[in-house]
Amino acid sequence: MTIPTTMRALRQPTWNGPADMHLATGVPVPEPGPDEVLIRVGAAGVNFADVMRARGTYHNGPRPPYLAGFEAAGEIVAVGEAVADRTLGARVIGTGYGAFAEYMTMPAAGLAPVPPGWADEQALGLVLNWATALAALRPLGRLTAGETVLVHAAAGGVGQAAVRMARHYGATVIGTASAGKHEVVRALGADHVVDSRAADVTAEVLRLTGGAGADLVLESVGGATFRASLAAARRVTGRVVVYGVAGGEASLTNRELNFTHPVHVIGLHIGILAERAPEVFAELMAELASLRAAGVHTPGRPTVYDLTRGPGALAELAAGTTVGKLALRP
Ligand SMILES: NC(=O)c1ccc[n+]([C@@H]2O[C@H](COP(=O)([O-])OP(=O)(O)OC[C@H]3O[C@@H](n4cnc5c(N)ncnc54)[C@H](OP(=O)(O)O)[C@@H]3O)[C@@H](O)[C@H]2O)c1
Repeated sequence: MTIPTTMRALRQPTWNGPADMHLATGVPVPEPGPDEVLIRVGAAGVNFADVMRARGTYHNGPRPPYLAGFEAAGEIVAVGEAVADRTLGARVIGTGYGAFAEYMTMPAAGLAPVPPGWADEQALGLVLNWATALAALRPLGRLTAGETVLVHAAAGGVGQAAVRMARHYGATVIGTASAGKHEVVRALGADHVVDSRAADVTAEVLRLTGGAGADLVLESVGGATFRASLAAARRVTGRVVVYGVAGGEASLTNRELNFTHPVHVIGLHIGILAERAPEVFAELMAELASLRAAGVHTPGRPTVYDLTRGPGALAELAAGTTVGKLALRP
């Protein structure tokens, strides 16, 4: 198969947000480094981190101008000289630089196979949304059957995966979402849905738990919601797993941990987890395979946009109006 020398890709020229992102043609097709593979992108995943990168708020994010996107699934079309365990033609999902494009390179070490029988776009989220939600629920959040978990942004990419797995593990699930998304969250199996934008979330969670609070909170929003999450967690044994700052930064003092919020606050970044605790990441991948066999992790049904409509898709994600996973098809 011939690999062209140039391709189409979405380029981000500033940190003014996705509105400045545009389609570029004649972009050189990258060459894989020694430990990398080159994939022909079948579908690219859109993540909230793409919005943060375009705004310049992602920690150690790329400096503009850069090729946007970092998650994709597709076919391996070239391998670096030091890569021994990857074959041409294999379909994989992973992360790398410049996913909103026709071709991209990825480190070979972090790849997962596209599950047999699944289309590329159906596998999106496997190493990000599903792995993050599972890490928050199990190895970090230590969820057990009979406990109550509060999932913020429950209709979103990570949130939907979290609701499905939490139900499977026997938890009572309280999901938060904007008003128009409540039916989606109920259909996933959530026991209760709280309006993320209008309700006093803390008061609602305390009411639904008889005053005890949630055993586990999946905190992906930040800002004022972070404070609500601390107050909604069960005193002494409650865990708050923090993995997102979509709504802004928030602080917590040692005095508060001592006197007002004696709860367990746990940070999570799935990229750092994969790099610094590869054995935990491998366990997550094995558990997801079991969840596929059990019919819990089923082929995704992302909302798919043409590559040219990427900036609009990111703007909708930034505005909080989207439901579930978004994908771009080059
Ligand atoms: N740490 C990690 O490793 C990791 C990995 C993956 C994702 N994440 C984080 O997890 C979160 C979810 O990611 P995702 O890609 O699946 O996005 P998403 O949940 O599909 O979209 C974000 C949702 O958050 C809610 N939201 C609340 N306040 C918001 C605000 N100020 N601006 C925008 N949205 C707001 C909105 O839902 P409602 O309006 O329905 O409340 C919105 O739809 C993000 O914070 C992301 O950065 C972290």
